[in-house]
Amino acid sequence: MEKKRIVTGDRPTGKLHIGHYFGSLKNRVKLQEDDKYEQYILIADVQALTDNFNNPEKVRKNVRELVLDYLSVGINPEKTTIYIQSLIPETAELTVFYSNLVTIARLERNPTVKTEIAQKRDLFGESVTYGFLGYPVSQAADITAMDGTIVPVGEDQLPLIEQCREIVRKFNSIYGDVLKEPEAVLSDARRIKGLDGNEKMGKSLGNAIYLSDSVEEVNKKVMSAVTDPGRIRKDDKGNPDICMVSYYHNLFSKDEYKNICEECRNGQRGCVACKKQLAQNINKTLEPFREKRKYYEQHPEIIDEILIKGTEKARITAKETMKKVKKAMKLDYFEK
Ligand code: TRP
Repeated sequence: MEKKRIVTGDRPTGKLHIGHYFGSLKNRVKLQEDDKYEQYILIADVQALTDNFNNPEKVRKNVRELVLDYLSVGINPEKTTIYIQSLIPETAELTVFYSNLVTIARLERNPTVKTEIAQKRDLFGESVTYGFLGYPVSQAADITAMDGTIVPVGEDQLPLIEQCREIVRKFNSIYGDVLKEPEAVLSDARRIKGLDGNEKMGKSLGNAIYLSDSVEEVNKKVMSAVTDPGRIRKDDKGNPDICMVSYYHNLFSKDEYKNICEECRNGQRGCVACKKQLAQNINKTLEPFREKRKYYEQHPEIIDEILIKGTEKARITAKETMKKVKKAMKLDYFEK
């Protein structure tokens, strides 16, 4: 049976945190073991530039950070192809072709784009760039260049996949049946709240535990996590439903979780001990990640090799797609 191709990726704009782990990385590690799939992960440096065009250093530096994060959690380059978007020039070409198939109004209505523009007032002021507005088009190019059929996404990315599907249908209806319509697959992944109880864990919010955090950093951060404010003394009865420590116990201390909540409700568990236990369990999860990271940090040449090989492999498919696309669009000059 032919394997279904998964295309997924991230913008290299910062270190990944435990929210990314539960949100997508864990799922990717699982998917690479599944014989039904063949997984490609792109490092979306071109897309990162759409909202960091004024900061190329940041994007450059984070490409390697991102690969380190991937490898540390167990993305296996023998099973998953990791590649760099800007080294697949076919995606840039496709983006130009697709840009005729999508209206400005449709892009402006894209909920993901709309939300992001609102969040990036600092960067764009009142007027958004052409490149940023068009990034869903280039994302459609990423996916279709690789012949992707499955795109595992979080809820917030769904409109991007819908936009890609529309472009594919439009392309096929005009130029012939060339492109595959990808399917968004919502993973059972969940969005993880921040240490301060904010709905989102994020760098700018200062409420994240990074995959690359040291034992000491994790300990310190967990101590700062927001707990039930009504609980002052150790034997006060607590409400774990409004406590971030209990929230993370549910992720990192699965077996003990029920017990923890019960003890908290009965006033039998002090917050400090509870936090120490949580920090310990988070560190237990992160420990194998730290070991792998250390290995790759000491062998930067292996990272280069992974990226070069992955990109070469991805490029083969992109070239094949390009050939079909140009033929369909009557741009196959001098091709035999
Ligand atoms: N939009 C994704 C993000 O914000 C990154 C991305 C770029 C992507 N191209 C993709 C994801 C193709 C899936 C498929 O991180």
